[in-house]
Amino acid sequence: MQMAHLIDFSEMSMADWNEVLTTAEDMIRSPYQYSDACKGRVLATVFYEPSTRTRFSFQAAMLRLGGSYLGFSDPVSSSVSKGESLRDTIQIVANYADAVVIRHPSDGAACAASLYSRVPVINAGDGGHLHPTQTMTDLLTIHQLKGGLTGHRIGLCGDLLNGRTVHSLIKAMAGFPGNHFYLISTDRLRMPSYILDAIKKTDCTYEEVSSIEDCIGELDILYMTRIQKERFSNVEEYRTQAGVYVLDGEKMKKASKDLIIMHPLPKVDEITDEVDEDPRAVYFKQAEYGMYVRMALLYKLISGAGAHSTPLVRPNTALSCTNPRCITKKEAYLPSLVSQAGVCCYCDGPMYPEVGR
Ligand code: NCD
Repeated sequence: MQMAHLIDFSEMSMADWNEVLTTAEDMIRSPYQYSDACKGRVLATVFYEPSTRTRFSFQAAMLRLGGSYLGFSDPVSSSVSKGESLRDTIQIVANYADAVVIRHPSDGAACAASLYSRVPVINAGDGGHLHPTQTMTDLLTIHQLKGGLTGHRIGLCGDLLNGRTVHSLIKAMAGFPGNHFYLISTDRLRMPSYILDAIKKTDCTYEEVSSIEDCIGELDILYMTRIQKERFSNVEEYRTQAGVYVLDGEKMKKASKDLIIMHPLPKVDEITDEVDEDPRAVYFKQAEYGMYVRMALLYKLISGAGAHSTPLVRPNTALSCTNPRCITKKEAYLPSLVSQAGVCCYCDGPMYPEVGR
C-alpha cells in the first residue's frame, strides 16, 4: 500500500482501495488466518469526541490481528485537559504506537495531526468534515450486499450539512461510475457546496429533494443519518431540525424489495423500531463490516508501511481559512496550507487574505 496516512478516502488510489476491499472480504471468510498479522504492533486510539462503533471496532480489529492498543476515549483523562497542543500530544503518542487513529471535534484535525506524526494517522472523524473509515465500511457493505459500487440510486437523508459520514461517502461513491444521489434534507441542512462540486466533476449526478416519500420508490440504497445536535450553536436551532425525517413502516411499503437501509449509527429518532425488524435494514450488519474493513486497513497500513509521502500542499502565510470550525482556528501554530484546488488543506474551507493572524 502506497499511502502514508488515511485522512480523506479520495486520496486513496483505486489499487489501494481494491487491496483493502479484497483483504476485508477474505477476512470475513477466514478471520483466523490473520490472527498473528500485527503481532507485537501497537495501535493508539486518540478520541477527543465520543464514539462506540468506531473506537471499539478499531480496537477489536487490532486485537483480532494479534496486536494491542492504548489511548484515551475522553481528552479529560489526558494532558489535553492541561492545555497540551494537538501537535505535542500526537508527537508523543506516535512514539509509542505503530499507527494513530484520531477523532476530533475540529474540521481538519486529522490532517493537522498527520503533520506531526512519524507513523500513519487514520482519520476517525474530524468535526463535520470527513470520516473515511466509515466510508470504507459503507463501501464494503454496498459491495457485499449489492454486488458492486456502480450504477446505484442512493438516497442520503438527514443532516447533510454537518454529517461527516455522508460527505465522505458521496465523495467516494462519486468516484464509481453511474451513481445518482438523492439528497434529502431541509433547506437549513443542505449538502455543502464543496461536496456538490465534487459530484459535478464526475459522471455521477444528484438532485436535492425535501421528502423521503418523493424518492423512496426509486432507491437501491437509503442512507439515513442523525441530526448532529453537537454541531448546532444552540439547542433551539437543533429542535427546529430534529424529527423532520422519520423512516417508518408506512414509508417502507413504498420502497423496492431490494432496497437496503444503511445508517452509520448511532440512530436517535430517525428510524422507528419496526424498521429494525425489516430484512432491508442492514445497519447492524454494516457495523460488523466496519470491523473487517478496519482490520484490512490496519493490516495494510501497518505491515505494508506506506512510504511517508509529502502532501501536495503549498504553504501560504498570506491566506487564512474562512471556516470557523477549522483546526487552524484552535491550534495557532499550524501553517496555513492551500491545496492545489485553492482551498484549505485541512478542512476544504475557502481561503481569504490574512488580516494579522
Ligand atoms: C458517526 C460519526 O461519528 O460521525 N458515527 C460513527 O462513526 N459510526 C455518525 C454520527 O455520529 O451521527
